[in-house]
Amino acid sequence: MAVVTGGAGGIGRALGRRFGQEGMKVVLADVRKEPLDQATRALAGEGIEAAGVVTDVTDYSSVESLAKETLDRFGAVHVVCNNAGTGAVSEGYMWEHDLADWRWGIDVNVLGVIHGIKAFVPMLLGQGDGHVINTCSGNGGFAPIARGAMGGPATAVYPMTKAAVLCLTESLYTHLQMTGTRVRAHVLFPGGFLNTGIWESWRHRPQRYAPTQKRRTPEHTLADVVARFEAAGARIEFTPLETVADQVVEGIRADRFWMMGPPTPAEDVVRRKATSILARSNPDYLVDVLSQSAAKTPATEGGKH
Ligand SMILES: NC(=O)c1ccc[n+]([C@@H]2O[C@H](COP(=O)([O-])OP(=O)(O)OC[C@H]3O[C@@H](n4cnc5c(N)ncnc54)[C@H](O)[C@@H]3O)[C@@H](O)[C@H]2O)c1
Repeated sequence: MAVVTGGAGGIGRALGRRFGQEGMKVVLADVRKEPLDQATRALAGEGIEAAGVVTDVTDYSSVESLAKETLDRFGAVHVVCNNAGTGAVSEGYMWEHDLADWRWGIDVNVLGVIHGIKAFVPMLLGQGDGHVINTCSGNGGFAPIARGAMGGPATAVYPMTKAAVLCLTESLYTHLQMTGTRVRAHVLFPGGFLNTGIWESWRHRPQRYAPTQKRRTPEHTLADVVARFEAAGARIEFTPLETVADQVVEGIRADRFWMMGPPTPAEDVVRRKATSILARSNPDYLVDVLSQSAAKTPATEGGKH
């Protein structure tokens, strides 16, 4: 049985569906009740045994309740996807970002993963096996995108949180190894250009993270981003979310820590960064997402502001 946070939409919903198609029972967890109900009903309509549990990953007691409810209902958990995430909402240079943007990004993208690990890993250890999959991003997991898709400096919040997700998952991997358990940690890098809600996270911004600064520019939609890329000569082809879900299922089967698609030119930043560190040379590898895409390299989300 599989639990997926951020399961009401995008990648999380696709993961839930794919696990269901593999014959697993599924719990979708999300802070947004209505799309969560819709997603759960859609899975049930396909004959998948699925439950939706309204969960706020920023609140540990909510994630603890999710773990308890899942165990009470299904008796065991085999796969946990810490996937809930929020995208780039900040504008300007990082010293201009609203502190509320930092808090929201850190609470969902970092603390949310920590909460999932704390609530579920002891359960998996007790069972003796299972898989924890934390959703990262090339934007931060490799290196931060320097210039966003809309032309200005890209947000510093999002890549910082995703760098933290990679580091957390590396620690989880080693700590699990030390115990000798069969429980495994994996880090997911969804590749390509994905048509999900992350581009417009601002639509569902909770009141307690309300902006404290007046915006100078309007929020962007995915359509704005696509239009700007196309105006710059980049052809946008969305990668099907099923492809990301395939990466996860294959990664579990192959016991693969790095859940990534086939190598892309975008990954060259990893090599360039390692070279820069080893040579003590200044970072010249940080990319302008638009020129990268114009060169037909798949973009990574989160760099649009
Ligand atoms: N879309 C991309 O291009 C891309 C690329 C790399 C990584 N990611 C990551 O993939 C993950 C899924 O994002 P997506 O692209 O499917 O976007 P999405 O917006 O469609 O899905 C994210 C889900 O997380 C939920 N969520 C937000 N705050 C929450 C909270 N406090 N508690 C519980 N749920 C909450 C949202 O309601 C939403 O359903 C994120 O971690 C994102 O950073 C996305």
